[in-house]
Amino acid sequence: MAIRVLPDVLISQIAAGEVVERPAAALKEILENSLDAGAADIQIELEQGGVKRIRVSDNGAGIQRDELLLALTRHATSKIASLADLEQVASLGFRGEALASIAAIARVQLTSRSAEADHAWRVQAEGGHLDAPVPAARATGTTIDIQDLFFNTPARRKFLKTEATEYAHCAETVRRLALANPGTAFTLSHNGRVQLRLNAESAATRVRQVLGEAFEHNTIAVDAAAGSLRVSGWVIRPGAATASREGQHVFVNGRYVRDKLIVHALKEAYRDVLHHQLNPAYCLFISVPPDGVDVNVHPAKTEIRFRDSRGVHQFLFHAVERLLSAPVEAGATAAPETSAAMPQARPYGAPQQTSMPLAVNEAMAFYAPLASPAAAPRMPAAAAYDAPPLGYALAQLHGIYVLAQNAQGLVLVDMHAAHERVVYEKLKAALDARAVPAQALLIPVTLTVDARDAAEISPYLDRLRDIGFDLSITSPTSVAVRAVPWLLKDADPVELTRAVLHEVAEFGVARLLAERRNELLATLACHGAVRANRRLSVPEMNALLREMEATERAGQCNHGRPTWFQISLQELDARFMRGR
Ligand SMILES: Nc1ncnc2c1ncn2[C@@H]1O[C@H](COP(=O)(O)OP(=O)(O)OP(=O)(O)O)[C@@H](O)[C@H]1O
Ligand SMILES: [Mg+2]
Repeated sequence: MAIRVLPDVLISQIAAGEVVERPAAALKEILENSLDAGAADIQIELEQGGVKRIRVSDNGAGIQRDELLLALTRHATSKIASLADLEQVASLGFRGEALASIAAIARVQLTSRSAEADHAWRVQAEGGHLDAPVPAARATGTTIDIQDLFFNTPARRKFLKTEATEYAHCAETVRRLALANPGTAFTLSHNGRVQLRLNAESAATRVRQVLGEAFEHNTIAVDAAAGSLRVSGWVIRPGAATASREGQHVFVNGRYVRDKLIVHALKEAYRDVLHHQLNPAYCLFISVPPDGVDVNVHPAKTEIRFRDSRGVHQFLFHAVERLLSAPVEAGATAAPETSAAMPQARPYGAPQQTSMPLAVNEAMAFYAPLASPAAAPRMPAAAAYDAPPLGYALAQLHGIYVLAQNAQGLVLVDMHAAHERVVYEKLKAALDARAVPAQALLIPVTLTVDARDAAEISPYLDRLRDIGFDLSITSPTSVAVRAVPWLLKDADPVELTRAVLHEVAEFGVARLLAERRNELLATLACHGAVRANRRLSVPEMNALLREMEATERAGQCNHGRPTWFQISLQELDARFMRGR
């Protein structure tokens, strides 16, 4: 076949393959145009999941008569004019092809009126063929009516899912754009029924409306800046995370993006407080200078490339990690959005109570009244009882829980989980400081091991000594343990060594001491932490409470479970119906 230039419509149809893979993608392009036009109110009507019809009306700037046909023409845009513009682009669109692509695969009617015009004008397009503008009636703004998407591209139509699925994708698109544009009102209807109505709101209110009250209550507010980078939004409390990846919403300069680098930075930030099978949920608004990010990576414009990707990764990681690692004493101001009244208002003993533990910051809200004189009169008992945040130990319950009294009421601590976290953080700190004191065993113990394990560790005995293990190979299948890390001196040295060898067999020493280091320390901490049924004296329990207060991330154990729980006097009073 001879080489020939493709007809324009076919070029647009090919482009549409990338830009408009399903109704939701067409809807995204249309909504972004409305937002770029400065619309304060956007009405969306869908039929049959958007396949039959997508009709969007906005009250934005509108399009002049002479430009209506251009708007539907490929490579025509009002948003950039040069490469310099492209590198600084702040609008959501810039490729000048979305409408042309949609017009090539659907029947499109575009009606628009600019502020200066006496009336509106309308153009029709079908399968790439454009009609001349005719007069029409509407207020300033634009209405685009897309019918029979993919009517002339049956191959693409075949890939469409059920109406419900296509609608769900459309609704998700609206929700995302609504999150990033709280100042714009949105109304979404499907098959004639209104599904979503959002007024112009503050960012916090919009997030609550779109993501729900549960999201609001289970998250911590983030707001951090470094140089020209800024992040604000909400991240989930570790205790409320689930396995789902659905709740991850990231916006860069107002654009919804899917970015592996960001997902990775967040996952890393949660590494120490979340079980690896759980995923953090978040809604983050990141701003970077326009020239620090390339949005021209893929026609769908949901992928981006950061100029300084390392810097962005580090920034996000630290911003969130710092927030999550606030020790019990600090962080009183870390959760401005969650009111102190919230946990008290929940009836203790309600089923969701057990699965919605008090996280550190939430509990800190309880302590805030102590520091604020204005609030003091409301809590005379609290002011009178001067105790550290986690209070003083009263007793041990069933060898599992420590009960303590603080100003607010009763504190319950999962002794093993809390101690495990304390030991883990101490091990990490000691290793970071390259000072892991070892405890020599009075009598070295010998254990029989797999010959391969012995061979694997033999070149690394020095490095194992750095983490406090003094081992020697006494025969091809036996290892003598002479010292263990001092922090783990109460654990069974054989069990500890076996745990190390087990990890060695799985990952090799080199990986174990580098990227798997924290997992190893977590395993060791579990061995080193007090076991259930160990009787603790009151001074021992108090020592644990004081250590928790001084430990980062003490609110969760290494697996992300909560380590302690507050029950306020008000909650107890309510249970006993006192003062009614
Ligand atoms: N709702 C609207 N209000 C005002 N102008 C609009 C609207 N929709 C489209 N336009 C005009 O039509 C032009 C073409 O829109 P189109 O979506 O095809 O391209 P774009 O937004 O410039 O770039 P991209 O292909 O990246 O979306 C826009 O540049 C804009 O000038
Ligand atoms: Mg556009």
